[in-house]
Amino acid sequence: MDIAQRYEAAMMPVQPMETELSISHGQGSYLYTVDGRRYLDLATGIAVNAVGYGHPKVIQAIEDQARRHLHLYSGTGYQDALIDYAEAILAEIGSGYKIFFGNSGTEAVEAAIKLARFVTGRPGVIAFRGGFHGRSLGALSLTDSAARYRSPYEPLLPSVYHVPYPAPTRLSMQPAEALRFVQLQLESLLETDIAPDRVALIVLEPIQGEGGYVIPPDGFLPWLQELANAHGILLAVDEVQSGMGRTGRMFAYQHTAISPDIVIMGKALGGGMPLSAIAARAALANQWAPGSHGTTFGGNPVSCAAGLATLQVIKDENLMAQSDRLGALALERLAPLRRLEAVRDVRGRGLMVAVEFAGEAGGALAQRVMEDMLAEGVILHMAGLRHEVIRLMPPLNIDKERFAQALDLLVRTVMAATAAQPAG
Ligand SMILES: Cc1ncc(COP(=O)(O)O)c(C=O)c1O
Repeated sequence: MDIAQRYEAAMMPVQPMETELSISHGQGSYLYTVDGRRYLDLATGIAVNAVGYGHPKVIQAIEDQARRHLHLYSGTGYQDALIDYAEAILAEIGSGYKIFFGNSGTEAVEAAIKLARFVTGRPGVIAFRGGFHGRSLGALSLTDSAARYRSPYEPLLPSVYHVPYPAPTRLSMQPAEALRFVQLQLESLLETDIAPDRVALIVLEPIQGEGGYVIPPDGFLPWLQELANAHGILLAVDEVQSGMGRTGRMFAYQHTAISPDIVIMGKALGGGMPLSAIAARAALANQWAPGSHGTTFGGNPVSCAAGLATLQVIKDENLMAQSDRLGALALERLAPLRRLEAVRDVRGRGLMVAVEFAGEAGGALAQRVMEDMLAEGVILHMAGLRHEVIRLMPPLNIDKERFAQALDLLVRTVMAATAAQPAG
């Protein structure tokens, strides 16, 4: 049996395979196959490998911690690996917050919901259409980017409400109009569906990830914060995908002046190891009674050591500034695509970069471009509610020349694919 057959025989089909590559190892920005082919990885395990594969400082930190202990339940005793990393994360968020570690993004979202319900005593949670927050049942109740994620698992958590996200292309509106529309929707929800004093939490991605790398209009986050404050509702930003320097700031919400009650982190947080966290205002965190939440593996010390080493690389190598510069380069190099009728939008913030294809054929075109790019040695990833968006999430330390070449290749590939499309 070849490896594909062995996979099919042994593994559940529920997690779809996106390529037929048999991967041997990764190094820097590249993945290598068992037959010696090299692929530039602009998907980074879905925005996890922020400093590429095999960064020597991350490997060293993992080795050092693995020799000390691989796992200790975090209640066993004090461990500097956890506390060192918690302090380093808090230094990025500002004073007055505390950390709780988990393993995956979905778990961190669960923790945010539970903390908010616990401290407010209110049931309601408001989330946004097109959002992705995970697949465990609580987080899934917030996720709204595909019916197939949700429908087979109904009934989901009660008292969860969705309103549209101010996504201009999705709503076919100008940004200011989209913002006003969403404001009215949310105000109306609080008048007709759930009273504000029954809402514990508003959760949003400051840039929607799975939803298509959607950047909301500037005033959106500050307005939400004001609304939440006015009603004693907690505001949580889900930075699982947009965090850890990817957008040119440590966290995407930091492009605005807001200070959320809860920051949800995952993916790149563990430097390639499984790790997630929430940071919450200390005044809230201190009310979360001991034992009312917990975890066996959360805050694994090896994951924390890898995450801290990664954070230090991001800072020492100025990778947030690099993300800004490379993001600007991407928008410049991809600009010719804006002239194509088949391309709805080219957008990005730092190294969350997206090309959105237009209309009914958009999904098929995105798929074709992905396959053509793979054939040329570049791995990309889909997003968008109809998979009509190609997202680029390269390592923050990708070589500039190599990235520019890949962007130019993407432009040529899209041009060729649209030229080959049947008219109409
Ligand atoms: C914004 C966001 N939140 C939560 C999650 C869930 O994370 P995980 O897959 O680690 O459970 C994801 C995963 O893609 C995500 O992008």
